[in-house]
Amino acid sequence: MSVTGAVRAVTTLRLTEMKQRGEKIAMLTSYDYSTAKIVDAAGVDVILVGDSAANVMAGYETTLPITLDNMIYHAKSVVRGVNRALVVVDLPFGTYQGNSKVALDSAIRIMKETEADAVKMEGGEEILESIERIISAGIPVMGHLGLTPQSIHKFGTYNVRAKEQAEADKLAHDAKLLEQAGCFAIVLEKIPASLAERVSESLHIPTIGIGAGRGCDGQVLVVHDMLGINKDFSPRFLRRYADLHTIMTQALENYVSDVKSRDFPNETEQY
Ligand code: KIV
Repeated sequence: MSVTGAVRAVTTLRLTEMKQRGEKIAMLTSYDYSTAKIVDAAGVDVILVGDSAANVMAGYETTLPITLDNMIYHAKSVVRGVNRALVVVDLPFGTYQGNSKVALDSAIRIMKETEADAVKMEGGEEILESIERIISAGIPVMGHLGLTPQSIHKFGTYNVRAKEQAEADKLAHDAKLLEQAGCFAIVLEKIPASLAERVSESLHIPTIGIGAGRGCDGQVLVVHDMLGINKDFSPRFLRRYADLHTIMTQALENYVSDVKSRDFPNETEQY
C-alpha cells in the first residue's frame, strides 16, 4: 500500500504480466525515505529493502548481523517515500530458517508494522515449509537462489554458484518448488547466464537477476553500488551509472573550504 492508502501501481500480478509480454523488470534496493522517493519517481518497478543494509548502511562485513527490528525501521522509512513501486522486504538471517511458525511471525511483523507489499527469503527446498506457511497467510513471497549471502559461512566465498552440474540441477529443482509453492518471483544471484536463462524459460513467474546475465526477466542492483557511493565493491556484473563518491567528496571538501575561509554563509545566506 502507498502512503495514501491506495494499492500501488506495480503489483505481483503486474510483474507476471510483464514477463508474459516480454517487458523487463527494473528492481533496485533502498533503505531510507529520501532515496526511495527518488528511486520510485525514476520508474523503478520493484524496490527491495535488502538486508544488504547490513553492509552499505551499517558497515558490517556480512548480512548476518542485521535484525528484524533494523529491517522494519528501514522498511517503514522506504514505504513512506514510495507511491508506485512494489516494496519487498528481506527477512533477515535467523528469522525464518529454523521453524515455520517463527518465519510466519517474522513475516507478519514486517507486513503489519511497515505496510510493505511482500517479503523475500533466501533458499529452496530447505525453507519450503516456511514459505508455504507465509503464503497461506496471504503474504506474497519472493524467492532468492544461487549466491545467498546469508549462507556465506557455508559457502566460504562470494564466488559464482551452481557452476557444477549437481548444484545447477538443485537450483533448477528449487526454482520449480518455489513456483509451485506460490512465490511471485525469484532472485537469481551470481550464477552462470546459461543456467539463469534456462531456469527463467522454465518458469511462469519472473526471475530477477544480479550477476545472472541477460536471460532473466528483470535485473536488480544495490543502489549504493550502481550510484558509485561505495567504491570498494566492483564485481564484473556491476555497472556504475554515476560516481557519487567523487561528486560527494568534492562537494564536502568545497563546504569545508568555504566555512574555513569564511565564504559561507554570505550576506544573502543569513537573516
Ligand atoms: O539484500 C540485497 O540487497 C539483495 C539483493 C542483492 C538481491 O538481496
